[in-house]
Amino acid sequence: MTVPSLGLGLVGCGSFGAYVLDAVAGLPGLHIAAVADPEPSRAKPLGDRHGVVALDGLDALLDAEGVDIVALATPPATHAEMAVAALRAGRHVFCEKPLATTTEDAARVRDEADRSAGTLVVDHVLRYNPVLRVVQRLIAEGLLDAPRRFLFENDAADQDLGPDHWFWDPEHSGGIFVEHGVHFFDAARALLGSEPESVRATAVRRPGGPVDMVIADAVHPGGVLATHLHSFTHAHRCERQLMRLDHGFAETRITGWIPTYATITAWVGDQEAERWEQLPGRFGELLNVPGARPHGGERITVTVHRDAGDTRPARGRGVERTVPHRVEAVIDLGGEMRKPYVYAQSVRAAVADLLHSARGGGAPVADAHSGLTAVAVARAATLAAGTGTQQRVTIPARPAPLQGPACALAEGSGA
Ligand SMILES: NC(=O)c1ccc[n+]([C@@H]2O[C@H](COP(=O)([O-])OP(=O)(O)OC[C@H]3O[C@@H](n4cnc5c(N)ncnc54)[C@H](O)[C@@H]3O)[C@@H](O)[C@H]2O)c1
Repeated sequence: MTVPSLGLGLVGCGSFGAYVLDAVAGLPGLHIAAVADPEPSRAKPLGDRHGVVALDGLDALLDAEGVDIVALATPPATHAEMAVAALRAGRHVFCEKPLATTTEDAARVRDEADRSAGTLVVDHVLRYNPVLRVVQRLIAEGLLDAPRRFLFENDAADQDLGPDHWFWDPEHSGGIFVEHGVHFFDAARALLGSEPESVRATAVRRPGGPVDMVIADAVHPGGVLATHLHSFTHAHRCERQLMRLDHGFAETRITGWIPTYATITAWVGDQEAERWEQLPGRFGELLNVPGARPHGGERITVTVHRDAGDTRPARGRGVERTVPHRVEAVIDLGGEMRKPYVYAQSVRAAVADLLHSARGGGAPVADAHSGLTAVAVARAATLAAGTGTQQRVTIPARPAPLQGPACALAEGSGA
């Protein structure tokens, strides 16, 4: 039996909307049905490129034939109202991040998604990134201890963000924690397997200009500390990012805001050493993200330096282990050169997850609860930074708690 293809209608034909359409074109079970933007000079060429009608906004899109999924790629402050309207009209929604610019609006969308028959996926692309999936898997399988510390340092580019761009205006973007930080608050939630309880933050303004650098430290249950720094101050070629996980006896270092490369170093015992040596043989299974197409150059390598240390017990934070062997593992998707490819495949996998869920395949990974939690943390961080007092702010909205690191994988899915 052939499953009917679902039609996707895009609202917002700016730079990322165009990118999303290119990424999902040709996805099995999906076709592009229409595009919409009040600015005809954006809608028309994009519609022509994909051979579909160009409309002037969401209302026209909802009136059009054959639009089963509404993809929202408009500025952040518009997302909540449009997502609610599309869900009420019986459509599925693929919503660009952030889900909303306030916690209240994000909760409204979450409530509507819970009530509605439609599926909502937030484009938290990191949830569909193979490097992060492998690290989550290694934590779930106990090869890596749950992180006790998360750090993300983001030297991001502002090269294409002119002074009049909506990005700098919190009314439209929600501010840096909301507009961009949500990706990493959500990734931390997946990697740590918990939601933070409180946050403290600082915002720094460029001389005579907007806030362009922010830092937040969020405390997760069990005293796990997560630090998030975003600095939109660089030329494209000088962008650099590091995500670091401290697992106690092991460390993970992931580079690229779209992760393309990671190194893991670990001190292990005899049995763990054997398990690490088996990892490259599980390469295909570990790197598989349903809906994403590997380019073929990905690799996982593991070197175990046997007896690199002595056999006397090693102790840290009261935990004692016999760990004489040193592991060096590399997860390589091709490095920074492959960022555009990996990025597009993550968007494709997110839409594949929506298709899978829309056809009864269970909740998507980046669902409305993820979207709400990320916005709630981002808003608490924004509030904390605004006080200028370094006070901790308690994070209010508490969606259903996760069951542990493994559940964030939400296996399955897949066109
Ligand atoms: N997931 C990611 O990795 C990622 C990356 C970049 C951007 N984004 C998100 O994508 C969204 C769009 O960003 P962008 O850089 O493409 O912005 P953009 O300014 O280039 O494009 C926005 C488009 O939306 C249109 N628009 C505005 N209001 C509208 C409305 N009410 N109805 C219909 N169209 C409307 C504008 O005319 C414009 O064409 C933002 O939410 C941004 O955060 C996500």
